[in-house]
This record gives sequence, structure tokens and C-alpha cells, in this order.
Amino acid sequence: MIASRPPMGFNTWNTFGEKIDESLIRESADAMVEKGLLEAGYEYLVIDDCWSEYERDPVTDRIVPHHEKFPNGMKPVADYVHSRGLKFGMYSCNGVRTCADYPGSYDHEFLDAQMFAEFGVDFLKYDNCYRPGSTDGKTLYRRMGMALRATGREILFSACNWGTDDVWSWVRSSGAHMYRSTGDIVDSAESYRNIARSQMKHLDASAPFCFNDMDMLTVGMYGKGLVGSLGCNDADYRSQFALWCLFSCPLMLGCDVRNMNEETLKLVTNRELLAMDQDPEARPPIFLQAPHEEDRIFAFKFLSDGSYALGLFNFSEEDRDMVVLFNDTGLPASARCALKLTDVFDGTDGGVHREHFRTRVNAHDCRVFRARLVKL
Ligand code: GLA
Repeated sequence: MIASRPPMGFNTWNTFGEKIDESLIRESADAMVEKGLLEAGYEYLVIDDCWSEYERDPVTDRIVPHHEKFPNGMKPVADYVHSRGLKFGMYSCNGVRTCADYPGSYDHEFLDAQMFAEFGVDFLKYDNCYRPGSTDGKTLYRRMGMALRATGREILFSACNWGTDDVWSWVRSSGAHMYRSTGDIVDSAESYRNIARSQMKHLDASAPFCFNDMDMLTVGMYGKGLVGSLGCNDADYRSQFALWCLFSCPLMLGCDVRNMNEETLKLVTNRELLAMDQDPEARPPIFLQAPHEEDRIFAFKFLSDGSYALGLFNFSEEDRDMVVLFNDTGLPASARCALKLTDVFDGTDGGVHREHFRTRVNAHDCRVFRARLVKL
């Protein structure tokens, strides 16, 4: 069984777009192992769009790997990725062309799934562009879900329909293990905030074996690469990463893993945050947002070991005091219990608090704690 926990890995799109080739994949695989990313759980290395020639082979009808980017075909690339202990992912699309205008798998689903299986693919991201007008998205995801199973190989199915067609209501039934729920992320504060806000009402549908995917992380991009946009600061990256973790989303790195700085590496390998993301029960957080506090998010999540995650996110441009009333989490004053907090970023003691907790949160930043119930 795969995807009992939110899938983790690296995807080429955010930084590299069409500038991908065999050496980038080999170097990224090496970096994932040598920097301890694989050990932290980042196991899938995924090549996104633009890996093929513009047309299928006229004789075999198969998609052809790009002769300059992947001169040896995909099998040796997959073999190398596997030799480093990683799993290998690729990309296709349910329409006649991919989003970047390469051949899509429409009406070739079973042929292409078989080809991916022959390459040694363990993960398929399946996009939603250029669908013939009369076709229904649900049916096309179901088709690829079935085509992947027909190969007999265990392949994680990553459905990427950007939250269209009310994806939350049917995607689990299509065999998908994760599903994109929003449009494409760019590396700006506005983008990750809008994405996170848009999914707060949808998280009940996300659960083991089929997780809500809020897109590849921009953490560590600092404005560089294809979706670089305005770029974010480290406070934003802490907030983005912590939101994805509290929401139990797949964690697909989108920065250049070969050139991550210390701060980025420390953040994405933070054991406490990863444990919250990978918590086996994957419960959605309770949101404690008051109506007049739209630029603040308070998230409180039940964890399987009996503890809780508490996150306070300041989406405003000013440093602010933020207050959580424990009554809203299910803990009234009459319970005679308190919450003992430990900061997940530096392990410091956040004190024992009863009824409420107040703290300063800097603009764009967050505070995240592991909370344990103590009897008074
Ligand atoms: C869509 C997807 C992106 C990326 C591109 C590739 O926009 O949402 O994540 O895969 O296509 O063209």
C-alpha cells in the first residue's frame, strides 16, 4: 500500500520548467541523498512537463523522450534514481497535449501507463490541459487510475486538476493518491496564503491514501526559477511550510535541491513539523479564526499520540499579538486542564497556559507549538 502518509519528494517544475535533462536529475538525486532529504522522508524525485519530443513516434504511437534532454531514454534515469534509494516520478496529462504543449495521454492512457511502468516509474503526476471539449474530467482521471493499476506496478497516482469539477467529491474514487486542489503556486506571500486559505473548508476530504495537494513548495526559491515571481523571505517560508504540515499536505520541494541554503534545509527537515505532516491519523486542524481577524490564522490539530499542534500565522504586514482561547479548541476553563507548549522551531519551552495563550507573531511569520495536555 502506498500513500498512507502524505507523499514527500522533489519536483522539477517550480524552478526548472522546461530546462530539465538527465544530468539535472542525477545531480538532484545525489543532492537528495547527500543532504539528508531522503532520510527525512523526501523519497520521490519527479520530472514534470517537457521531458518528451513534441510528437509521438508515428509507428509505435509511443511518447518519445527528448533526444537532447534524455539521450539515453528514461530507463537509465529511473535506474539511477532507484540506485540512490529514491523513487522515480514522471508527468503526463489527460488531454491531447500537456500544459506546456507536449503529447498528452488522452485516448492513449493504457499504452502510456504501460510505458511508464516499463521505464520504472513509481509516481505519475497527471495534469488537466487540452481535454477535448466533450470529455468529462472525472472519467479521464478514472481511466488513468485504472490504466496504472492495469500495469501491475505500484504507481502513486497524483491527479492534478487544480480543484476543478468539485474534485473533493469524487477524486478518492478514481484511485488517486493525492489531488491538486488549487491553481499553480508562485513564489510570493500572496500566492501561498491564498492557496492555504482556499483549502481551509476542504480539508475533511483529505485523508490517508488520498491527500489534498496544495502544490509544490516554493520554500527556498527566493524568487529564482520558473515560478520565482516576487520571492519570499524566511518568515514566509516558515509559514508556508508549517501550513502545509498542519494541513497534512504532500510535501514536494520545488527549489533547486542541489543549492539549498542552511536555513531552507533546516526548515524542510524539521522533525517536529514533519511529524505533524506525517501524523498517521492526518486529522484536519480546527480553525479558530475570529471574523475580524482575516489576516491571521489559528490552527489546532489533534495528533495521534495524544498531543496537539498549535499554529499561529500572521498574514499581515505588522507584528502583532495573537490570542488563542482554549475554549474554542474544546478545552473549557471547567476542564481544569492546561496546555504545555514546546516551540517546534527551536525546541524551547513555551510555558504552561490555562484558558488562553497570547504571543507576539512577527509580520509574515508564524509560531508553531507542540501542545500537551496537563491536569491542574
Ligand atoms: C500545470 C500544472 C503545473 C505544471 C505545469 C506543467 O500548470 O498545474 O504544476 O505541472 O502544468 O506544464
